[in-house]
Amino acid sequence: MTHNASPILVTGGAGFIGSNFVLHWISQQKGPVVNLDLLTYAGNLGNLASIEGNPDHIFVKGDICDRRLVDRLLAEHRPSAIVHFAAESHVDRSILGPEAFLRTNIEGTFHLLEAARTYLVGLAEQDKSTFRFLHVSTDEVYGTLGPEDPPFHEHTPFAPNSPYAASKAASDHLVRAWVHTYNLPALITNCSNNYGPLQFPEKLLPLMINNALSGKPLPVYGDGRQVRDWLFVVDHCRAIESVLAQGKIGETYNVGSGNQQANIDVVHLICDLLDELMPDSAHKPHRQLIRFVQDRPGHDRRYAIDARKLEKELGWRAQETFATGLRKTVQWYLDHKPWMEEVTSGAYQKWVHANYGRRGEEKKPAAAPAGAR
Ligand code: NAD
Ligand code: TYD
Repeated sequence: MTHNASPILVTGGAGFIGSNFVLHWISQQKGPVVNLDLLTYAGNLGNLASIEGNPDHIFVKGDICDRRLVDRLLAEHRPSAIVHFAAESHVDRSILGPEAFLRTNIEGTFHLLEAARTYLVGLAEQDKSTFRFLHVSTDEVYGTLGPEDPPFHEHTPFAPNSPYAASKAASDHLVRAWVHTYNLPALITNCSNNYGPLQFPEKLLPLMINNALSGKPLPVYGDGRQVRDWLFVVDHCRAIESVLAQGKIGETYNVGSGNQQANIDVVHLICDLLDELMPDSAHKPHRQLIRFVQDRPGHDRRYAIDARKLEKELGWRAQETFATGLRKTVQWYLDHKPWMEEVTSGAYQKWVHANYGRRGEEKKPAAAPAGAR
């Protein structure tokens, strides 16, 4: 340990974004991290193998709904902030089984807010004034956009369409209420789709890369013209850092890089990168693996983020372009095949069967109306 900084409590730090954040924080020697994670199917301590044994990383396996545990961690470690990532995070899983989303995303956030509120009462005035609760949320709370609509801004009304989005919207509302009613020093970030290393291969990019590597079909939902605004995960971590350091209590900050891409275009880019990086692959050209399959129910057509508030007020800028970020990401998965093998063994196969087994294959992409994205 090389500093005297107070610890922070991170929830969900063995998942995709949380583990990237912990690695980023520790690499900058910003202080100890107490990492509370239940290690569900999405959590993996292997994500943090590079900091194994580092005294600045204190891992605690446990549930954010376990109030006694959270109280104990706060009393024992006296963190200067809580950065709350822990969640059920996959839309398709929320469609097949919404209950866990309500429990973790809503009840779990409630328990953390209450624990933080109690913890604050016992803090000295100075520590109280610097403490922050940062709630990490998603752009999906805003619903869906038409092709010509302006991007979501911080005052776009909430209109969640999936059980996942509804549970995140509910948790955002709880955080807001705890600020207004109890003066809890909390902030919210609503970020667009992340991509990068260490993402569980249920999400679009790692799923497509993993399937392509073994010559399996690449299942594109519907007509593949749904649009997402992709942000490299380390840029998201840097945004969270900025909001933690300089954000205004009670404010919401949208995070995104204005990089709107249709799903089918992303899948094409991945296939082309794989062709280039694996010239001897038996599955070249990888585009031949693409299959259009039955669409996701209630599939949001387009997300896009207006991040000008974060840029203007806090000086944040995305550093990675989609071209550089995607290349790094594909290369990372090529260089970490044992990681992928480990996370796709066991229960993962059941998920693939549950989600894709029933979708079948569309004969051709459903026709999109002219001009639709
Ligand atoms: P993830 O599914 O990869 O990781 C979630 C982590 O939370 C896992 O490690 C899991 O074990 C842990 N967890 C789940 N339930 C828990 C519980 N009850 N107690 C303790 N830990 C528990 O998710 P992610 O993609 O890293 O997303 C992190 C956060 O960022 C989520 O809140 C998500 O809503 C938000 N977000 C994600 C994206 C994205 O593109 N992935 C975009 C915007 C916002
Ligand atoms: P996903 O990574 O699940 O993120 P989200 O649903 O939170 O945006 O999906 C990104 C987009 O890719 C979304 O429009 C659904 C689509 N998609 C597919 O076409 N095929 C797939 O197998 C998956 C997982 C997603």
